[in-house]
Amino acid sequence: MSSEIKAKISAVGHYLPDYVLTNQELEKLVETNDEWIRTRTGIIERRILKDPDKASGFMAAEAAREILRQRNMDASEIDVIIVATVTPDYMFPATACIAQSMIGASNAFCFDLSAACSGFLYALEVGTNMITSGQYKRVLVIGSDKMSSIVDYTDRSTCILFGDGAAGVLLEPADDENGIVDSIMYSDGDMSSTLIQSGGGSRNPASHDTVDKKMHYIYQEGRPVFKRATEGMADVSVEIMKKNQLSGDDVDWLVPHQANLRIIDATARRMNLDPSKVMINIDKYGNTTAATIPLCLYDWKDRLKKGDKLVLSAFGGGYTWGAIYLKWAM
Ligand code: COA
Repeated sequence: MSSEIKAKISAVGHYLPDYVLTNQELEKLVETNDEWIRTRTGIIERRILKDPDKASGFMAAEAAREILRQRNMDASEIDVIIVATVTPDYMFPATACIAQSMIGASNAFCFDLSAACSGFLYALEVGTNMITSGQYKRVLVIGSDKMSSIVDYTDRSTCILFGDGAAGVLLEPADDENGIVDSIMYSDGDMSSTLIQSGGGSRNPASHDTVDKKMHYIYQEGRPVFKRATEGMADVSVEIMKKNQLSGDDVDWLVPHQANLRIIDATARRMNLDPSKVMINIDKYGNTTAATIPLCLYDWKDRLKKGDKLVLSAFGGGYTWGAIYLKWAM
């Protein structure tokens, strides 16, 4: 019976560009300072993909290659590739198709998913259901964002926040009770204008005017987004704990989207979680949008034990938010 099939994460891969953009370097670009950035966001540095010929598709392909090496698998064995991104190589074709071609995953069907900072979580939910349907056996779920391609490096309120990177996981049918257990996903389009890249789509096609008005850059109203993100991430994390009768002691790890250290701390407090159980790497990478959660899984993979209880939780543009509860299967 297809409903009895469970999905598990069987490999984790990543790609980070070499170039490190420090707070000190940003001090030279905009009126800001290291102390403000550290205390207001928790960020110390972020990675930037400098090569103009490389973009999100390249980073997704590199993450995929690492996953394939880890599982000792050929690219032709992949059934599905989902790339979560808001910085696709092109409006179309899908970045997942670009990555597919780069790795030679000729038997995979491929598509992108747009849910901003919740992109990886949403893609993991979709991929999980593709596995549990029984129709697919190997689904690559990758978050990849070249945020530097849409960041205005004269806007101090946004340019300090974002970095480039990619990471992802392989989903396969689980062979025991460990795997993806539960999920809660939400969206609210009413506040979409507070976090938006308004130019370049069908509403405001690229023109001299859209360039002059800086509509191809990220626009964010920091305060309302901060408030909703803090509430949203904390509420949904507590909700999934209650739904699965988990206390703060039961949860081994919180894997939060890395947008702002203060949002992460507030979420952990609401969950009654010891700070030592919270994955935090925002200091090194900033907000890499769809890549933050799998980058955490990658950085912590050697410390994770089979059966560990993880709560993954994110909030992002849309608005989109959600949480996934899983038992680590590797
Ligand atoms: N350096 C120095 N000062 C800065 C600054 C910077 N880089 N950016 C903004 N400021 C200033 C503002 O101009 C403002 O000055 P004013 O009081 O004279 O007007 C002051 O700092 C406070 O600005 P505010 O926007 O209220 O700061 P904040 O505490 O809300 O922090 C963010 C700003 C962007 C860090 C924060 O709002 C945030 O993290 N927002 C949500 C991000 C997020 O979660 N995104 C969605 C998920 S991806």
